[in-house]
Amino acid sequence: MRSIINEKNLKNKKILLRLDLNVPLDRGEITDTTRIDKILPTLDFLIKEKAKIIILSHVGRPKGKIVKELSLEPICAELEDKLKKKVKLITKNIKEIKNRNFFNDYNEDIFILENIRFYSEEEQNDNEFAELLSNLGDIYVNDAFSCSHRAHASIYEIPKFLPSFSGLQLDLEVNALNKITSEITRPITCIIGGSKISTKINVIKNLIPKFDNIIIVGGMANNFIEYSGNSVGKSIKENNCDKIVEEIISLSKKEKCKIIYPEDVVVSKDLNGSPQNKELSEILIDEMILDIGPKTIDKITKIIDNSKTILWNGPAGYFENPDFAYGSIQIAKKIIENNKANKIFSVAGGGDTVSLLNNLNAINEFNFVSTAGGAFLEYLEGKNLPGITALN
Ligand code: 3PG
Repeated sequence: MRSIINEKNLKNKKILLRLDLNVPLDRGEITDTTRIDKILPTLDFLIKEKAKIIILSHVGRPKGKIVKELSLEPICAELEDKLKKKVKLITKNIKEIKNRNFFNDYNEDIFILENIRFYSEEEQNDNEFAELLSNLGDIYVNDAFSCSHRAHASIYEIPKFLPSFSGLQLDLEVNALNKITSEITRPITCIIGGSKISTKINVIKNLIPKFDNIIIVGGMANNFIEYSGNSVGKSIKENNCDKIVEEIISLSKKEKCKIIYPEDVVVSKDLNGSPQNKELSEILIDEMILDIGPKTIDKITKIIDNSKTILWNGPAGYFENPDFAYGSIQIAKKIIENNKANKIFSVAGGGDTVSLLNNLNAINEFNFVSTAGGAFLEYLEGKNLPGITALN
């Protein structure tokens, strides 16, 4: 893998730069800018080298359709603000643009193409689409470690057409995760939560042989609660998961890795409703699980006390509403307390977890914080990530 930082002759070169600007948005407002802040050094470097920049990124999961709420417009404005430079958003269908040399048409040095996932070809890893994109630049740079687990056109396929390099943030994440995976000490506990169940549930099986405890919270825990014979009401969950849950449980017994999921929960009728503590057997059909309960918090903090390494990916509940953030906050506090006392080595990852830690002003209280969620877990699994493979 060659890093762009070692390249010298970048003046006037057109750099096709894949970033992960998938930041949380609330009615068009960015609620956490960490992923933007982290890639500024790469942009500053390219600007200093007088390169021309075309940014590619997605936000959310529009599934090949134009979704107005998932426009990169607010992200473009934030970039302009941070860089103190004009960044031009290209909203036209890139397949229909005749003159594909934006730098001739406009007097700008930085362009950003509208959400790349508005095109179905992106997730289909379409070769022609990748070629079309590659025609826009002279060099490709991947600075999106957090999407490098996706074999998508702008990540996996473009490097087939252009000289390709890693960006500064990707280098940093890969080096840090390499160091961590080779140096961590047991007992190791992995806490997995969040709402991206489909991405993570298959990962757990492969993590079992590597860890002593896997604590499952957030949306994915609902599949385990349901599997244990309890109703989860109208909570989020992944369909047709019983087989994988069964495999996870039986493999964990064989490998002597404890799987822990909530014993009690906090429910509500909707995301803004009032919170209520419940035993698993008490959840009603019109209620949704939005946080872990006190017994579960107690159990998790004891496990953290008995661990030497903690890897955390994904909040324990719907932390965006303070009424359902208590479980996640207690987990964060316990990790920070033990980290300060030098009792554990702690790593956190994922957009939502980073945003939670930012809210708590606790981002520097962990040994390492990765912007990546799914990619972070797959890297821990020991998998080759398509985005990294393509650069190699
Ligand atoms: C992330 O937020 O982990 C990355 O941007 C990838 O997003 P995805 O899970 O929608 O592919």
